[in-house]
Amino acid sequence: MQQNYSVLAKYYDKFTNKDCDYVKWSQYLCDIARAHNVRQIADIACGTGKMTQLLVKQGFDVVGVDASAEMLNEARAKTKALFVRQDMRKLSLPRPCDMAVCVNDGVNYLRPEELAPFFQRVSANLKKGAPFVFDVSSPYKLTSVVGDKVFYWDDENETLLWSNRPQKESVTMELTLFVRDGETYRRFDERHVQYIHTDSAICAALRNSGFELRSKSENYGNFLANDSLRLTFYAIRGI
Ligand SMILES: C[S@@+](CC[C@H](N)C(=O)[O-])C[C@H]1O[C@@H](n2cnc3c(N)ncnc32)[C@H](O)[C@@H]1O
Repeated sequence: MQQNYSVLAKYYDKFTNKDCDYVKWSQYLCDIARAHNVRQIADIACGTGKMTQLLVKQGFDVVGVDASAEMLNEARAKTKALFVRQDMRKLSLPRPCDMAVCVNDGVNYLRPEELAPFFQRVSANLKKGAPFVFDVSSPYKLTSVVGDKVFYWDDENETLLWSNRPQKESVTMELTLFVRDGETYRRFDERHVQYIHTDSAICAALRNSGFELRSKSENYGNFLANDSLRLTFYAIRGI
């Protein structure tokens, strides 16, 4: 079993779901950033820097934070920004930022009891009145859409199998990657656990961490529905 994202890092961009519309997401984030005269943005759990790159292109000064050295290597190759290897549960930025974002499931990697302490770390690293925008895969998506399913991607040189096992508060995701090596394939396995966070638990944790919720939407700006797959929270650090 490989370390979380250590092998996947190299293939992450290729296997990212087509429904992950980073350009649309970045437009939503940039609108908020501009409304708050933001210059520096912390991209928490930045992964391979897909969002970091788009924010840098829009002229923001971005610091990307991630726990995975391999994901950060991909990010460094993609864009010029400050990248810091750090556990977001112990977030400590070089200086307080004007805005923080956490995109595409980063928060789902936190256990329910880690949610409020994480938000407190974000708050401690933000200037007063600064926006914090993040998403989570919804409880509906984790339990009913990906819950106990198996997905696969397949092309000439790599095959990825992604099989899910739902538990009460989480979904365990077994990722098996076969990479062509001449006439044979090498096999790599990673196990990811994503935690289910309810809307009420997120709102309570934000409140208890000094954030004021500005809006909730589906997938960065759409109206919420019972079958929304990605929930986006936009909050402001209290003054
Ligand atoms: C699904 S990826 C999303 C990456 C990126 N935000 C994107 O949109 O492509 C989740 C990321 O969260 C990172 N991550 C998970 N737990 C973390 C932690 N405790 N501290 C920092 N990063 C973490 C992983 O290393 C991975 O890069």
